[in-house]
Amino acid sequence: MSALTPDPPPPGTPPAGQPGYDALAELYDRTFPGPWQRPLDRHAVDAFADGLPRGGTILDLGCGTGHVTVELAFRGFHTIGVDPSARMLQIARKRYPRRTWIAGDARYPAAEAAVREAGPVSGILARFSLIHVPPEELPAVLESWAAHTEPGCHVLLSFQALLEPELDVEEFPHVVAPAWRWNPSSLARALDEAGFGETWRVIVCPDDDHPYPECHLCAVRA
Ligand SMILES: C[S@@+](CC[C@H](N)C(=O)[O-])C[C@H]1O[C@@H](n2cnc3c(N)ncnc32)[C@H](O)[C@@H]1O
Repeated sequence: MSALTPDPPPPGTPPAGQPGYDALAELYDRTFPGPWQRPLDRHAVDAFADGLPRGGTILDLGCGTGHVTVELAFRGFHTIGVDPSARMLQIARKRYPRRTWIAGDARYPAAEAAVREAGPVSGILARFSLIHVPPEELPAVLESWAAHTEPGCHVLLSFQALLEPELDVEEFPHVVAPAWRWNPSSLARALDEAGFGETWRVIVCPDDDHPYPECHLCAVRA
């Protein structure tokens, strides 16, 4: 870890919470009542899931109201949804009470006890959640994933992207919480430095409802 990277909080540290998502959870749920906003959202998750062993464990970090987590559970995976917003998790738990939901954030250790019970993690999904991790904290988050996974673990990150080649990352206006969009190559480099090699990426162009390009980026732990 670089000297500029803050030490990760010790295992067991409670999540910092997400007041923005807590306040807007019901509105968020009404605005996004289903898992997919655009066909490529689903195709990217399909491509990620197709690379995983049937019945494997998937950790969904920043699972929100749990729609996508449960899509994967319906396909036969054991899923663990993790989110720092108590209200978002409450909606997920109420709607899907038989699934596993844990208060935590993008750092792996929050999910450790549930993962220990479930066995090795085959895949980590972080859809539009790492955008809320301050960039200086991202390397420690990715290192925490590498420290707790086996070679072959797949990762799918979905995020608002920055395509100007000279920029790595930039804060952007987000109605719910502070957020940063990443240059896909810079995020791929950060993953690579943590031990996850990029396997594919898809960039989706902006449209009337999505002002920024979006990237779905898959990587595998070496
Ligand atoms: C835009 S929602 C996406 C929810 C879900 N992943 C999906 O695709 O439908 C972003 C979620 O990230 C969560 N989040 C915010 N900060 C986070 C962090 N530091 N670590 C993990 N999740 C975070 C929020 O609470 C929220 O539920």
